[in-house]
Amino acid sequence: MPGPREPLRVGVLASGTGTNLQALLDTLHGREIVVVGVASDRPDAIALERAKTAGIERAVFVLAEHEDRAARDTAIAGWMAQRGVELVVLAGYMAILTSPFLRRFAGAVLNVHPSLLPAFPGVRAIEQALAYGVKIFGVTVHFVEDDGGVDTGPVILQRGIELPGASDFDEVYARLRPIEHALVPEAVRLIAMGAVSRDPDNPRRVVIAAEVTAEA
Ligand code: GRF
Repeated sequence: MPGPREPLRVGVLASGTGTNLQALLDTLHGREIVVVGVASDRPDAIALERAKTAGIERAVFVLAEHEDRAARDTAIAGWMAQRGVELVVLAGYMAILTSPFLRRFAGAVLNVHPSLLPAFPGVRAIEQALAYGVKIFGVTVHFVEDDGGVDTGPVILQRGIELPGASDFDEVYARLRPIEHALVPEAVRLIAMGAVSRDPDNPRRVVIAAEVTAEA
């Protein structure tokens, strides 16, 4: 019989309030995963405070202190690698990662985006959706690949919510936040359990093992 699985070593990149980081800490940290480091591009990110409270190692990589974005990303990748990171979660990380990082962690970077991709990629997704006048909003958790795009990687999980009367950013944001906080840990847990793979006939299609979803 195989022994119990070692917790997956997760590194988190965050620029802001870090509520998605907190969701990971509250649900999976110390169980299916161990968050071994939190890095930010912003020294004032509240996410860093959350990491400190949880006793997790932190680092700040300010762009101005590096030659360029690629050099900064190489430094972040080295810091993550030193901690044995197996999966990188972008939890509100507002800088676009360059090839040196994405190649080093190929197939092991996950992002959360507040729209049903491929609709409304990039910044201000909720504002874009409101401007378009959609009736269904949602959240996507996807892999980040070195494909030159933004929010273009293979979809792991998506969840939509019907808000046919929505006209206000704050209202939509408030409804999407709990979905993010459920979906990010769910995706990370599935990866930690080895339940996430790719369809060999269409590597864009992420396959989730049925028996694991049934247990959830
Ligand atoms: C989330 O809305 C996420 O979808 C977007 O950035 C925000 C991060 O929030 N990419 P937090 O820092 O996790 O609270």
